[in-house]
Amino acid sequence: MILEKLYFCGSLGAMMNSEMSVREILEWYDAAGVDVTVGSVPFALVEKDAVLTKMPLRESNKEVAKPQRQATTELAQATQEACKNAKDLCQEIDRLDKLREAVENFEGCSLKLTATHTVFGDGNPQAKIVLVGEAPGADEDRIGRPFVGRSGQLLDKMLKAAGLGRDSCYITNVLPWRPPGNRTPTDGEIAVCLPFLKRQIDLIKPDYILLLGGSAANALLENAETISKLRGHWLSYQTTEGKDIKALATFHPAYLLRNTGQKAKAWADMLRLVKDYGLEKTDA
Ligand code: URA
Repeated sequence: MILEKLYFCGSLGAMMNSEMSVREILEWYDAAGVDVTVGSVPFALVEKDAVLTKMPLRESNKEVAKPQRQATTELAQATQEACKNAKDLCQEIDRLDKLREAVENFEGCSLKLTATHTVFGDGNPQAKIVLVGEAPGADEDRIGRPFVGRSGQLLDKMLKAAGLGRDSCYITNVLPWRPPGNRTPTDGEIAVCLPFLKRQIDLIKPDYILLLGGSAANALLENAETISKLRGHWLSYQTTEGKDIKALATFHPAYLLRNTGQKAKAWADMLRLVKDYGLEKTDA
């Protein structure tokens, strides 16, 4: 969660300012899921009046409904515009390094404001297998590369055990920026960033896509099925150029770290992939 603009907490912030120690304030933020600050002024130290003047007065439900509706419409319009900008940008780009530069300079997604790094795809640009995760986590955001934290270490082990090095794959995410506190990305954030992922796939032209988790599978396959339903059989992703690419969905490594009993299914998915790719593996 982001610290900036939590205006609705105004009176609480002012109260904390007078009655709570800095440690208590930080603990309160931590418990509320706030782990990112924007700007240098802690919210609880913002003047009470400055906060309250930004809060809509709740005189009647009708009066607050209007600005809320307007804000929703404005957000939807901004998202639409950002999607269009991202798509237009991508159409002109025919090289991966140019695409990386375009993503790094793109200002249409607010996740960039709270991220430390833009985490673009990584690995072999000639790879026949592209792996797609959801979004960078804290380690990836700090280092600037996808899947370098605990999930990445598990993924590396699985790839190695299946006979695939990280250097024979290209690894990327639906989102190039970490959602604050690792929250689930919104549909709008996914829609804005999706053209960049699709363009990476267009440029790499892989034979296979391994979708790590439900977010990646739902975003690229444009469906809303659960990962449990999607995994375990061949699927197909159609590129923006109309080419079908064999796709497999499997559990996200972060999910496997929490649910170790599902590792056998993910391993079976990995074996299905490498068998079709031509790397025969027989044991689990
Ligand atoms: N989880 C993801 O989905 N992607 C990463 O890069 C790291 C963790």
